[in-house]
Amino acid sequence: MHLAAHFPGVNNTTVWADPRSGSQIDFSSFEHLARTAERGKFDFFFLAEGLRLREHNGRIHDLDVVGRPESLTVLNALAAVTERLGLAATVNATFNEPYELARRLATLDHLSAGRAAWNVVTSSDAFTGENFRRGGYLDRADRYVRAAEFVATARELWDSWTPDGVSRPFSHEGPQFTISGEFTVPRSPQGHPVVIQAGDSDEGREFAASAADVIFTRHGTLEAGRAFYADVKSRLAAYGRQPDDLRIMPGVTVVTGDTDAEAQELAYEIRRRQVSPQNAILAAEQVWGTDLSAYDPEGPLPDFDPVPDSGITQGRVRHGDPLETAARWRALAEAKGLSLRGTVIKTTARQSFVGSPATVAAELTAFVDGRAADGFILVPHLTPGGLDDFVDRVVPILQESGAFRSAYTGSTLRSHLGLPEPVWKG
Ligand SMILES: Cc1cc2nc3c(=O)[nH]c(=O)nc-3n(C[C@H](O)[C@H](O)[C@H](O)COP(=O)(O)O)c2cc1C
Repeated sequence: MHLAAHFPGVNNTTVWADPRSGSQIDFSSFEHLARTAERGKFDFFFLAEGLRLREHNGRIHDLDVVGRPESLTVLNALAAVTERLGLAATVNATFNEPYELARRLATLDHLSAGRAAWNVVTSSDAFTGENFRRGGYLDRADRYVRAAEFVATARELWDSWTPDGVSRPFSHEGPQFTISGEFTVPRSPQGHPVVIQAGDSDEGREFAASAADVIFTRHGTLEAGRAFYADVKSRLAAYGRQPDDLRIMPGVTVVTGDTDAEAQELAYEIRRRQVSPQNAILAAEQVWGTDLSAYDPEGPLPDFDPVPDSGITQGRVRHGDPLETAARWRALAEAKGLSLRGTVIKTTARQSFVGSPATVAAELTAFVDGRAADGFILVPHLTPGGLDDFVDRVVPILQESGAFRSAYTGSTLRSHLGLPEPVWKG
């Protein structure tokens, strides 16, 4: 089993108001989480990226943590205070250029002695793009075309130095990039930093099958995980790759307690705190696409249908069909006698594994044994509390059963993930 720790950022699963959570921008917060992950012998530490603060109803989105430092800079600093832990940065392929990003990733791989990873994301909504010179300039259909050529070009740059340290000129000519010259950074310890893909569409899965080492998914149930796993692994052969060349790691949330019942109680308490009365209204506004500030969070849901194609939320994907979501929420509220807030608490819960440490360890192991995942990216609901608890109480059980490593056996992230060294294509 492979494990990674996701530093909580712009997501509503984090309870930043908890005094233990500390600051989301102080280096000490990153350091604590990374050191905890390394103490737990995790494969890697993961930083997401948001290139624009999301807005809701013309204001910075209150559900989000406002402000975060740039990922690669944080990871370079973490390389100095960790020894074995992989360091994964999410960096957008739509708004960067291969030469510069390949340099920065190769540099992290050097500074960390072979622990760098790049989560290639493509999000290109025009709202985010306004921050950049070309604006939101890529159609959805073109995003993965550019990402695929971006990754291929970066690999050419990483291969432009021979393994024994001789620089040779490179030249790339393609529909997206035409560049030539000499790359400034010698071949790094992993040859190529580990490439992660996070995107769930057909194009996203195909891109992962062709070019990624790890895929970061969002599949909560065993059945959905199995279907995803079988689908993605079956796509690898077309690219001359083996099933084990791509690790599938869903993002999961864990809540533990001394007993299963205590964990369930704690999980409910966390959900209540995540969905404050104000957050409940914001969540409902995202579905209804309209201002609901006059509504009582403890009262009923709106009795009208959602506004189609609403721009009330910027920089945040509106999941599913709002009409269908509203109908489902209303049916649930009626059946269980729930208020607006109670309905949001029930429907937005994303707690995948809730139970005693033994229960959680058994369920995680069942996911891996059942071919629904190769490992997990833990999205702690509390920082720092969430990860410490997992490392102190669940990891030892996984180690005892042999499901997870008790010590690092290699020094690079590729070695933790059991991935082959990339073949040098000189
Ligand atoms: C698990 C997961 C994590 C993601 N993390 C980020 C992120 O940190 N930053 C970002 O800009 N996009 C992120 N994305 C968005 C993807 O890059 C992509 O733009 C989005 O999923 C739409 O692509 P798709 O249609 O292939 O799913 C993430 C997607 C998934 C599924």
